[in-house]
Amino acid sequence: MTTKLTIRRPDDWHLHLRDGAMLAAVLPETARHFARAIIMPNLVPPVVTSGDAAAYRDRIMAALPEGMSFEPLMTLYLTEDTDPADVAAAHASGLVKAVKLYPAGVTTNSASGVTNFDKVRPVLEKMAEIGLPLCIHGEVTTDHVDIFDREKVFLETVLDPLRRATPGLKVTLEHVTTAQGIDYVRESEGDIAGTITTHHLMINRNHILVGGIKPHYYCLPVAKRREHMEALRKAATSGNSRFFLGTDSAPHTDALKENACGCAGCFTATNTMSCLAHVFEEEGALDKLEAFASLNGPARYGLPANKNTISLVKEEIPVTYPEKIAAGDETVTVFDPGHPLYWRVT
Ligand code: DOR
Ligand code: ZN
Repeated sequence: MTTKLTIRRPDDWHLHLRDGAMLAAVLPETARHFARAIIMPNLVPPVVTSGDAAAYRDRIMAALPEGMSFEPLMTLYLTEDTDPADVAAAHASGLVKAVKLYPAGVTTNSASGVTNFDKVRPVLEKMAEIGLPLCIHGEVTTDHVDIFDREKVFLETVLDPLRRATPGLKVTLEHVTTAQGIDYVRESEGDIAGTITTHHLMINRNHILVGGIKPHYYCLPVAKRREHMEALRKAATSGNSRFFLGTDSAPHTDALKENACGCAGCFTATNTMSCLAHVFEEEGALDKLEAFASLNGPARYGLPANKNTISLVKEEIPVTYPEKIAAGDETVTVFDPGHPLYWRVT
């Protein structure tokens, strides 16, 4: 039985760090185990221009505690007014590693996202030309489409036409939650990859709804049926280089989660590596954890894998994590998979 695993230091290809007191609280939770992360731009107001991204990167670096190292990989929030020349300059300078597409209204702070895809065509064409990836929140927002079908419908009605209209565009379908999304990423021609979150490998919709509503399991895209979770687990543990970790760790204060209209997001930064080792061991695939968390992502982004390593040790007694972390005067609840974890990061 494997009890110690050493892998290249992981990276997180989809992370929400927020700003201010929340940034200061959650950044060390990620930097403790991860070398780099793709930083989501859905602040209020959003990170739209290269100037916004440079200023946000500086705030992140200023919030990093002494002695910790971490590299934020910045993104721009795509709006219908985004200037292709600004995007190209941000890419050329090395500041920005991806552009994020939120369909307008799809999730937290997405009001400035895209409604008319024709308006962003010049930006997408420029991105295809310069090889800058587009990270996509892949859900439709149409009222009559059931929330559990919104990813599947997006693939057919938005993603596929968008990719056909912009050949050569590098696309990352983020936080895939359905078997259809997995099949699309695995089988489509062209430059496509998919990120998978920690929590979607561990929870399905029953976890949210059976025995009372669990607000800390509510996120977007919402977790689907068990068979979809199983398809995600197969893809993540397959070693297929099109799939890699994007935790979508998305902190909200407990007051905003435990609320009549609770915010979407699971905060997994603190215990993600323990959770992933647990899942990969259950799937008999501990040997594929390094590909998923540390190798496939950098390869996709044309970056070297990290040189240093982390080790995971399987303990006899469960590893404990704080139930909550403090953020200013508020608290944020750490993701609880609902069973003990035994893998400790050393
Ligand atoms: O659960 C989510 N939380 N999904 C998203 O797409 C956004 C995120 C957030 O920013 O809170
Ligand atoms: Zn997200």
